[in-house]
Amino acid sequence: MRKLYEARDDETVEGALRCPRCGAAYPIIDHIPRMLPEDLAGEMRALNQGFFARHPGLLSRAQKGDGNSESARALKRTFRSFSFQWNAFGDMYGFWEDNFLDYVEPLTPEFFEGKLGCDAGCGFGRHLRYAVEYGAEVVGLDLSEAVLAAYRNTRDNPRAHVVQGDIYRPPFAPKTFDFLYSIGVLHHLPDPMAGFCSLVRYVKPGGRLFAWVYGPRGGVSESVTRALRRATTRMDYRLLRALCVALAVGLRLFSHYPYRLLSKVPALAGLAQRLPIHDHHRYPFRVVVADAFDRLSVPLVRYYSRDELRRWCESTGLVDPQIRRRFRNNESWRVLGTVPA
Ligand SMILES: C[S@@+](CC[C@H](N)C(=O)[O-])C[C@H]1O[C@@H](n2cnc3c(N)ncnc32)[C@H](O)[C@@H]1O
Repeated sequence: MRKLYEARDDETVEGALRCPRCGAAYPIIDHIPRMLPEDLAGEMRALNQGFFARHPGLLSRAQKGDGNSESARALKRTFRSFSFQWNAFGDMYGFWEDNFLDYVEPLTPEFFEGKLGCDAGCGFGRHLRYAVEYGAEVVGLDLSEAVLAAYRNTRDNPRAHVVQGDIYRPPFAPKTFDFLYSIGVLHHLPDPMAGFCSLVRYVKPGGRLFAWVYGPRGGVSESVTRALRRATTRMDYRLLRALCVALAVGLRLFSHYPYRLLSKVPALAGLAQRLPIHDHHRYPFRVVVADAFDRLSVPLVRYYSRDELRRWCESTGLVDPQIRRRFRNNESWRVLGTVPA
């Protein structure tokens, strides 16, 4: 890729990258290369009218697309939902560090030192920020406008890079990274296993691949969530945010505060554990709202069993795959393996 326009300071704020082989040009808008699939061209054009007015030569590719297939519609809904979510709730807190290490366990900060990695579906950059603090150079890839929040949250570290693009067609050469992790992303894709297989291709032989995905879920809070989602996945995002504020107040009053009291009494600790989404009692109110929004807005969600994840690992030939259960309120899985030679 070659840069078409030049930089302010040591970084390109606005411009384009042109592929010398096929001639395609990809805009750089607000410091971030935008390498989106054509189905999202219309979204990109609508959000960046000023940019395309200044650079009309870049419109031709951006004018393509606007696909209307079922998969194109799902892609757009995912794009819009996360674009709103992470620009409304993209705050950094110190406790995200523990959160990151808990997700990627058994990987530790020492693992990251000196390596080149990718955070696939980086959202607002909370994990990317720590991976680079631990000494890795990392590219955060995300489909949505969350990239704006990811850039803001990591711009002070020159080892952090943010690119807007699609996990199915990431803008990287095969076998580029020493490690790649994807946290809370694959279960929101139309074909999660294909997403997993796609990501393996971009890790060097002997490199490590880590994914965190939802496990089977049940119980009252899950039934309520599924019932609400019939309406909330179509709701206006501002209205949904207001509903999530109300739900977060309810959780504080009827789960988090009771949890804090009950868990102090040994005889009642078991009861405390049964309160819905109780482990969010330790999070700031805004994070509780964000989590409710995440559950209710995202268009696609799937839940995995260990056997299904075993098939993912087998089909990619991952060496020494580990599929470990993580349980905090709900079940989820940590998948870790080494990419074969
Ligand atoms: C639940 S968020 C998780 C974000 C981040 N990994 C975290 O844990 O904070 C899922 C993210 O995946 C991104 N995403 C969804 N589909 C994608 C795709 N096809 N390619 C790249 N990113 C995608 C969304 O835009 C969203 O930011």
